[in-house]
Amino acid sequence: MFVQNRDPSKNSRTLLSKVAILTACVLGAWVSSAQTVATPPKTETPKTELSLRQLADARGFLIGGAISATVLDPDSPEYSETVAKEYNVVVTENAMKWAPINNAPGQFNFTLADLMLKYADAHKQVLRGHTLVWHEQLPRYVGEITDKAALLAAIKEHVQGVVTQYKGRIKMWDVVNETISDGPGNPLRENSPFVKIIGPEFIEMAFRWAHEADPDAKLYYNDYNTEGLNGKSDAVYELVKGLLAKGVSIHGVGFQTHVDMNFSVETSKMRENLERFRKLGLAVQLTEVDVQLKGDAPKAEKLQQQAKVYSDLLTTCLAVKCEAFLVWGVTDQFSWRSSFKPLLFDEDYLPKPAYFALRDVLLGTPK
Ligand code: XIL
Repeated sequence: MFVQNRDPSKNSRTLLSKVAILTACVLGAWVSSAQTVATPPKTETPKTELSLRQLADARGFLIGGAISATVLDPDSPEYSETVAKEYNVVVTENAMKWAPINNAPGQFNFTLADLMLKYADAHKQVLRGHTLVWHEQLPRYVGEITDKAALLAAIKEHVQGVVTQYKGRIKMWDVVNETISDGPGNPLRENSPFVKIIGPEFIEMAFRWAHEADPDAKLYYNDYNTEGLNGKSDAVYELVKGLLAKGVSIHGVGFQTHVDMNFSVETSKMRENLERFRKLGLAVQLTEVDVQLKGDAPKAEKLQQQAKVYSDLLTTCLAVKCEAFLVWGVTDQFSWRSSFKPLLFDEDYLPKPAYFALRDVLLGTPK
């Protein structure tokens, strides 16, 4: 109860202090309600702790990479856990290539590929098929064929054998890989038995046979050193444009993106290049990204530079509404170029600056 104080100055002080208390209470309530709005509930994962996969899932984007059989090895749980946590799409680094899967005429060995598909299914990941027709990792019997009709028949048997086996379960395939050479004028590569013995038509036929085996699968041409505007990407552009003109089912182009830390998205004109393929109505994916460390700068500096390149690559990919960003591996330890430490996780599976850079891009780029 309010008791009148006999000392008027005391009275006014009491009144003033009451107003002050009231104001403080009102202000306090306002500040604390503002805090309640700004602070996320304790159970929600802070955005800065979300995995690449969670951030990509939220925007309907595919992020992932190549995996080896290590993913099935119970002695390397960190490998499998990292892939499950960070990737929503995986690619078999070697298990689906011609020699491992079809080492003799008409004989297929799907054991390893099946186990890897089972892993992907169990972790609700897309499995991307790699690769049907490539001049490397071929079985001996293919290299021994010298007759055009016989080699075409071998391609048909291989492509249809593999695509039929995974019909409806593998929804995207690299059909033809690396068939443009790096030489002057970028003709089809001479060191490919398919180019030498059959000629350009093997490309079209491979796509047609893959489409026949699974009409719902999306089919890609895949190559390296084609990220920017250059002679080789011009050659790929003409190739796929020609296929489209003939009504061949090709859905997209994979840009492998094996680069080093000095790569520049700007000077290579990567965005302009990817955009011209998008304008043909084709999907675009970065399929084998790795960024090699180079030179004598201190390691921390090189890692920052590597992170910048990763960041620029993903930013460019998102800017052209690419379908997927795929890194060629998981940990530097098992990279095909491991001495250049090109991947997102170090030998101890710790995320590198490049990992955080990709996360920042996913967090900061509007959908
Ligand atoms: C590489 C694998 O990473 C290695 O393990 C293997 O020894 C050789 O092939 N372009 C491609 C990939 O399309 O299939 C290659 O993968 C890397 C270059």
